[in-house]
Amino acid sequence: MIVGAQWGDEGKGKVTDLLAEQADAVIRFQGGNNAGHTIVRGTEEWKLHLVPSGILYPRKLCVIGNGVVLDPRVLIEEIDHLRARRVDVGSLKISANAHLIMPYHLLLDSAGEARLGKLQIGTTRRGIGPCYADKAARLGIRVQDLLDETILKKKITAALEPKRLSLRPFAKDPSLDLHAMTEEYVTYGHRLEQHIADTARTAWELLDQGRTVLFEGAQGAMLDIDHGTYPFVTSSNPVAGAACVGAGVGPRDIDEVWGVSKAYTTRVGAGPFPTEIHDELGDVLRQRGGEFGTTTGRARRVGWLDLVALRYAARLNTLTALTVTKLDVLSGLETIDVCVRYRGAEDAQFDHFPYHQSVLHHAVGETERLPGWEEDIGECRREADLPPAARDYLRFVAEFTGVPIALIGVGPGRDQVIWTEHGQRSRLGASPGAAGTERMPARPSGRAAA
Ligand code: IMP
Repeated sequence: MIVGAQWGDEGKGKVTDLLAEQADAVIRFQGGNNAGHTIVRGTEEWKLHLVPSGILYPRKLCVIGNGVVLDPRVLIEEIDHLRARRVDVGSLKISANAHLIMPYHLLLDSAGEARLGKLQIGTTRRGIGPCYADKAARLGIRVQDLLDETILKKKITAALEPKRLSLRPFAKDPSLDLHAMTEEYVTYGHRLEQHIADTARTAWELLDQGRTVLFEGAQGAMLDIDHGTYPFVTSSNPVAGAACVGAGVGPRDIDEVWGVSKAYTTRVGAGPFPTEIHDELGDVLRQRGGEFGTTTGRARRVGWLDLVALRYAARLNTLTALTVTKLDVLSGLETIDVCVRYRGAEDAQFDHFPYHQSVLHHAVGETERLPGWEEDIGECRREADLPPAARDYLRFVAEFTGVPIALIGVGPGRDQVIWTEHGQRSRLGASPGAAGTERMPARPSGRAAA
């Protein structure tokens, strides 16, 4: 499983893309088109929002799991775009139980933000929060509802009823017309029908056959609705445990959980950010790292690597390995700061991520200053090629978090990575007993028969 260990945008798409090569299937389990994954292949660049990163491999099963919230208009655009670039999307499967983002979710997301004014969360305004809210309220419209016009219309009517007051300002918005909306979504149903499936069962069957399934997380642990910097979070659970719920598998089906972290930190939207850099260095790193949102184009806030938060993410996800991306962005800095504890009001010190919002809002990262390196590291392909200061930096991160580093990103290109010894050993199919080419024995018969 690949999960974000920060506030999203860690480079999960590239890591998933690399690992997908050896996997039989890639399953997304939460979030929606608030996510954006950029994959670089040679001179070509792909920006995906909903379709799992494995789609660029021919005939690799790509699954949008039940935990995802899906805007069908966006998905169809993405499918058409991939087709136009000659990518075969025949292996894309969509859970019949995934919830649909409806036109009113988009309006309510923006209206909610406008109402909050200065206190706004800074959502991507893609309707994610209102869609998950309807799911919890049992007023959601699911992918399977697209296949029956009568049911669809009834459910839309029921979903609109309690929203009448909040939707009043949009009374004249043509996207809210019940008949037009139903027609539009029925058309989406026709387009997507061939992809709709019982994806939990698909996952079990693959696992029963000892195949390798890669679970692709979106966002990151610090945006988790339960464990993140609430309310400045997304409306789903990007932590590893959610993959079981959002794909329909059990905890014992997961062998490896890799957390992705940048060599520094970024976040988009509002909310606490203890290691944020407020001076020009922040602008320099933002430009160098291309820190502008894939989905919204917004400039990302930039800060030093926050090891208090990263160790917290390691615990929340039971990470078995870390991948550290964009190490090259730090090249040329004389020194590099890393946050090892927080200092709060009245000089209080926090070694652990504080659970209390008021503490967190006042927390400032206390840093240790490590030596930087001058060299361009874009051509390094083995750990030994890295300057000693870069290796020391990585060692510091691994020791502090207690998680070994498997993979290091040294540039945007697909080949600009270093597999560490640990990574070589634990990457899919690399070691006997690990999933992949070496097949696992069939799972317990009771399970296989289910
Ligand atoms: P929402 O997910 O659109 O409701 O936005 C809630 C918060 O999560 C905002 O701070 C967004 O900027 C943030 N967010 C949502 N998706 C992503 C992502 O893929 N990367 C980074 N931040 C995200």
